[in-house]
Amino acid sequence: MKNIPLNERIIIALDVQKAEQAREIVKKCESHVTFYKVGLQLFMSSWFETVDWIVDRGHKVMLDLKFFDIPETVKLAVEQVNNRGVTFATIHGNDPIIQAAVAARGDMKLLAVTVLTSFGEEDMRAMGMTQSVEELVFYRAKRALELGCDGVVSSGLEVEKMRGDLGEKLFIVTPGIRPGANVSDSGDDQKRIVTAGMAIRNGANHVVVGRPITKADDPVKVIEVMQQDIIHSTQQL
Ligand code: C5P
Repeated sequence: MKNIPLNERIIIALDVQKAEQAREIVKKCESHVTFYKVGLQLFMSSWFETVDWIVDRGHKVMLDLKFFDIPETVKLAVEQVNNRGVTFATIHGNDPIIQAAVAARGDMKLLAVTVLTSFGEEDMRAMGMTQSVEELVFYRAKRALELGCDGVVSSGLEVEKMRGDLGEKLFIVTPGIRPGANVSDSGDDQKRIVTAGMAIRNGANHVVVGRPITKADDPVKVIEVMQQDIIHSTQQL
């Protein structure tokens, strides 16, 4: 946990329309951050082009396509991602889906999405679910680990219990990161939010940050402030 380099702690979510915009962000931030997330929006426009470009530059990639389909289809999709230098890929789903993904996994690490960080307690009630978000996240994380996943994607609010009960082996990647001043209300679709420092202190290995960095006037300044917060938190581990 403590040995993760500072420039890999933040994974910048490249949620932009075009490959050129993504490249611009990477070039601007790569002196400080060497881990980038390619998600649905960018993948829809540039397919593997941006992924390969980032990997060729010597940086790490989290491919966040959250595969969710019948087990055979998920298996075939995971095989398409193998051997491209991707570090993390995300999947979603029940036991047979996770098992199929794990069996097909090659050189990358598979992260299971537990509960989206945009999903709150009131959304659970609206779906008729009686568990708390934390209970559901914990159940899914435990199951994913038992089935051979390398880690999970989870909000920083549930990390402490997972890290405590499931051990150090599990990779925990936390989106829903907002700077200190915005941490009680993101002002957007994210609901279960924490600061970068809180997530790391609670036991996350990495944080995923999109808009607070990519929409900032000075992205590097935002990164530097977050990294200071992370340094402070890792000293407390
Ligand atoms: O802009 P923001 O910092 O909210 O971006 C968060 C990123 O993390 C988005 O790309 C989103 O797709 C992703 N993500 C998330 N919650 C999850 C899994 C992924 O917000 N549970």
